[in-house]
Amino acid sequence: MKLKSRHLLGLDGMSREEITLILDTAISFREILDRPIKKVPPLQGKTVVNLFFESSTRTRISFELAERRLSADVVSFSAAASSVGKGETLKDTARNIEAMKIDMVVIRHAAAGSSHFLSRVVDANVINAGDGGHEHPTQGLLDMYTLREKFGTLEGLRVCIVGDITHSRVARSNIFGLTTMGAHVSVCGPATLIPRDLEQLGVTVYHKLEDVIPEIDALNVLRIQLERQKSGLFPSLREYHRFFGVTKEKVSKGPKPITIMHPGPINRDVELSADLADSEHSVILQQVTNGVAIRMAVLYLLGTST
Ligand code: CP
Repeated sequence: MKLKSRHLLGLDGMSREEITLILDTAISFREILDRPIKKVPPLQGKTVVNLFFESSTRTRISFELAERRLSADVVSFSAAASSVGKGETLKDTARNIEAMKIDMVVIRHAAAGSSHFLSRVVDANVINAGDGGHEHPTQGLLDMYTLREKFGTLEGLRVCIVGDITHSRVARSNIFGLTTMGAHVSVCGPATLIPRDLEQLGVTVYHKLEDVIPEIDALNVLRIQLERQKSGLFPSLREYHRFFGVTKEKVSKGPKPITIMHPGPINRDVELSADLADSEHSVILQQVTNGVAIRMAVLYLLGTST
């Protein structure tokens, strides 16, 4: 079986079989990460360019490691040190880079739809590493991989995403992916940070953590985007923490331990208490490790299909 598209732009519309193919392919790459020599040859001779127009720690390093471990030649581009500052458009930037005969592009950009746009103007395979508030598909995939690793299946799993759902590409990719895989997805947050029509995506909406905690197996805690406070979407960080901050005390009210996830970077003691982030119920660092395997799987499946 192969992926239907030459690109990975989002999880919206991706089938259960395709998601399963990526998760299953990642298992063998995850094993390679534990070997003394972590390099395999499938992308030998291929050139991958990482176009990062927005800051990133995890995603950028993870993609670079994944590319190098598959033996690709890797070029990384940072908007701050490029001709973008001289007014060059995304289309011109991409077409100039492609003229240097590259095979795959990984793009992170603040504009929703930027990876779709890129896929229409270049011949290379395009992978979306986060486009504005739209999607972050490899984050959704690594979250699903981590949950499947822990629970054995995604079917029937009860997962709540807590925080700023409206502005979160991580939330959208998780919702699309998890519902396709048969999980029960809920969201929790202040009404100002939850889109009004979200139930149409098959999601249950909660506005109180104490209502959802007894109902779930895992909580995916989103970073509170500090700039949202300035736009009046929540009153203060202290108030946010009081009502929606996930703490040991709050999760202990559930009937069984809840698995804690976070895409990073964490605002410690704002959306998630530091002791819970570092506790035995947290799989946050497993998410980061699994992210390399997921990105290897995506690069492999796209880069070796003819
Ligand atoms: N999870 C995530 O996208 O983190 P970075 O912004 O550091 O890449």
